[in-house]
Amino acid sequence: MSQEMTRDATNHDLVARLSARLGPAGVLTQEADMAPYAVDWRRLFPGRPACVVRPASTAEVADAVRLCRAAGAAMVPQGGNTGLAGGAAPDASGTQVVVSLARMNAVRAVDPVGLTLTAEAGCVLGTAQAAAEAAGRLLPVSFAAEGSAMLGGVIATNAGGLNVVRYGMTRGLVLGLEVVLADGTVVDGLRALRKDNAGYDWKQWFIGTEGTLGLVTAAVMRLAARPRHVATALLAVPDPDAALRLFTLAQEELGDCIQAFELISGLSLDLVGRHSTLTRPVEPAPWYVLLEAASSLPALREAAEGMLGTAFERGDALDGVLAESGQQAAGLWALREGITEAEAKEGRGVKHDVSVPITAIPAFLEAAGRALAEGAPGARANAFGHMGDGNIHYNVLAAPDHDGDAINRLVHGVVDRFGGSISAEHGIGQYRVAELLRHRRPEEIALARRIKAALDPDGLLNPGKVLSGQILPR
Ligand code: MLT
Ligand code: ZN
Repeated sequence: MSQEMTRDATNHDLVARLSARLGPAGVLTQEADMAPYAVDWRRLFPGRPACVVRPASTAEVADAVRLCRAAGAAMVPQGGNTGLAGGAAPDASGTQVVVSLARMNAVRAVDPVGLTLTAEAGCVLGTAQAAAEAAGRLLPVSFAAEGSAMLGGVIATNAGGLNVVRYGMTRGLVLGLEVVLADGTVVDGLRALRKDNAGYDWKQWFIGTEGTLGLVTAAVMRLAARPRHVATALLAVPDPDAALRLFTLAQEELGDCIQAFELISGLSLDLVGRHSTLTRPVEPAPWYVLLEAASSLPALREAAEGMLGTAFERGDALDGVLAESGQQAAGLWALREGITEAEAKEGRGVKHDVSVPITAIPAFLEAAGRALAEGAPGARANAFGHMGDGNIHYNVLAAPDHDGDAINRLVHGVVDRFGGSISAEHGIGQYRVAELLRHRRPEEIALARRIKAALDPDGLLNPGKVLSGQILPR
């Protein structure tokens, strides 16, 4: 029998077993049905799954994992498939099983007093946010893809987003976790506790490891009080140094009320203007800052106005608008959240998701600009991102025949010089596997491989993501 025939026979057998367990709604095998699950949304990693399973409960996930393991089939967990590093897309071998968590979408509980929300992995982030809001509380993870991204993926990638400056990364918001291990064991750690030092904090092994150590099936998330007053401003600024001075001023004047501090290049808003109907309500400028502060104390607006007045006096803000209503604030956020889509419409770019110490951002931008001008003449840098937490998306718009790897190496080389990270919030997925190897110490990679070998000895969980090559022998 040829290799292909053996593969088809194994697939056929596995699909039959999965269908018997999950029912017809739980297994997709037709190419057209599988198409949305077969490629990441940027369409950089087209794959071909053996089938897509859609379990409706943790028990079904566990059984699907057992059946795949028995057949030696690799599994690729997938939520809303909005990731930017290809971590949820299968390869093109036709042998991998996509495990979509989309049918496990219930919000199981909201506790407005204890400030927790318990939901399943397939719950869309926006739905979980709305459930928290209905209870008068805030689920403080927010980013442009929140209308499609699912909680399991948010956790598996340790998503960052717009409010990290105040609430931290997803990792710090997960109080409890339920996971299915590579052998189908269900580990229920859905504890809604603020303090829990009883032994290893094992849930951290599954947060940010992109489904390579286990499948997240449900979580208890920490909620926050919902501030009653919000001040949102878009400011035109002369350069990143001025933006940094504004950040210091905002910290002094608004303190821990700052919940977003975004740096946006002029090019970013040009692209949004070109590819959407949105318009910027401030003068054209080389850079912008989108600043948001929130508090339950009514003095917030006065404090924000005072801060902006000082910024204008000092020449650090050239023009600006402080939103007068929630609707106007949403309009400012639409500009910011429209950047990724506008970039995609402009053409294929080379994305970077780097972080450097906040104070080094202006120098980093200058050095990266110089390196790009020398190493990739003609390429345009479109830098924007979460300045308040040191995370810049230094995206490069290059010619269609560009060498993406060379541009990656160039930008990441500059990141190294500033003691930064090559992945601040998007994860490694498939996109940055080689770069991770180049930028982390061999001992760090070896340690990660030992953990991988312990939890996924057969290497069946999301192979080829995060860690490359063979896992260590047992
Ligand atoms: C964002 O902050 O909008 C995204 O994480 C960045 C990107 O699309 O590169
Ligand atoms: Zn981002």
